Amino acid sequence: MLLNASGCLDALVAPDVARQLDAFVTKTITPLPREGNAPPRIAETAYGMLNAIGLANPGRDAFLRQTLPRLAEVLEIPIWVSVGGFSAQDYAETCAAMDRSDAAVIELNLSCPNVDEAADGATEIVAACRDATAIPLYAKLSAAHPDVGAVAVAVAEAGADGLSLINTLRGAALDPRTLKPALARTTGGLSGPSLKPVALAAVHACYAATGLPIVGMGGVTTGQDALELIACGARDVALGTVLFSDPDAPARIRAELAEAAKRADVATPDDAFGRAHEREKLPHSGRKVTA
Ligand SMILES: Cc1cc2nc3c(=O)[nH]c(=O)nc-3n(C[C@H](O)[C@H](O)[C@H](O)COP(=O)(O)O)c2cc1C
Repeated sequence: MLLNASGCLDALVAPDVARQLDAFVTKTITPLPREGNAPPRIAETAYGMLNAIGLANPGRDAFLRQTLPRLAEVLEIPIWVSVGGFSAQDYAETCAAMDRSDAAVIELNLSCPNVDEAADGATEIVAACRDATAIPLYAKLSAAHPDVGAVAVAVAEAGADGLSLINTLRGAALDPRTLKPALARTTGGLSGPSLKPVALAAVHACYAATGLPIVGMGGVTTGQDALELIACGARDVALGTVLFSDPDAPARIRAELAEAAKRADVATPDDAFGRAHEREKLPHSGRKVTA
């Protein structure tokens, strides 16, 4: 299944792009409206894009009253709602409010690098949300944690049904002439191709640790990238930064994915699932034969 990454596609502005996907993920919604951070809040670097949007969104009530019904009307695909907050109670109240809505899945954004307010611990948030709703919960984790596999186990035990991996990683860029930060708040979240190796490692570790369904994302620009995430244990793949430069990316990547599977000698992309976990077959001695 192909999705967009939260915050990387406005489906009401570009419904034709969203309709190429199997499910649409909203921008993260917080209890109260947020304007986000001061500009400049986007910077291009040679290694990817930095954003410091800061969870700009209309807030839970306006989202439930206006945005979600409009999305359900315009799109004929399942809608995943990304939920954020600054305490376990914030998250749980939003989940409870979503319970009678059109949300197919709730993705808990436990990993935004662009807000200063500290959120409660990931397990506490997931447990509170589990009590608040029967809608499937995906925990979106950061690969910045030194042991993301252990975090994945903890949120699985707290009741997460799946994982979304990975969010952006904190970075900074300087103006080459002034040597001042390019972003108003100095740092932002790095996204794009440079994240791919980090995403592969996180998906590999979390699938090995939990076996939970995973939406893999981070630097996907081609079908080959998507196939590699699937081989590491992602059931589904989300497209983020690529959507800003290529609105046809979903259809293109879907076609490339089938080609990449053929090149890897698997009948369909699904047959590549978990391949990266299969141990290399060793001869009887247990030692690898190199010549
Ligand atoms: C402009 C921008 C806004 C984003 N907003 C959100 C957000 O609201 N919630 C969230 O969970 N992730 C957000 N992300 C992170 C993406 O969903 C995704 O995890 C990350 O960009 C890695 O994927 P990519 O390298 O394919 O872009 C945002 C990313 C970008 C570039």
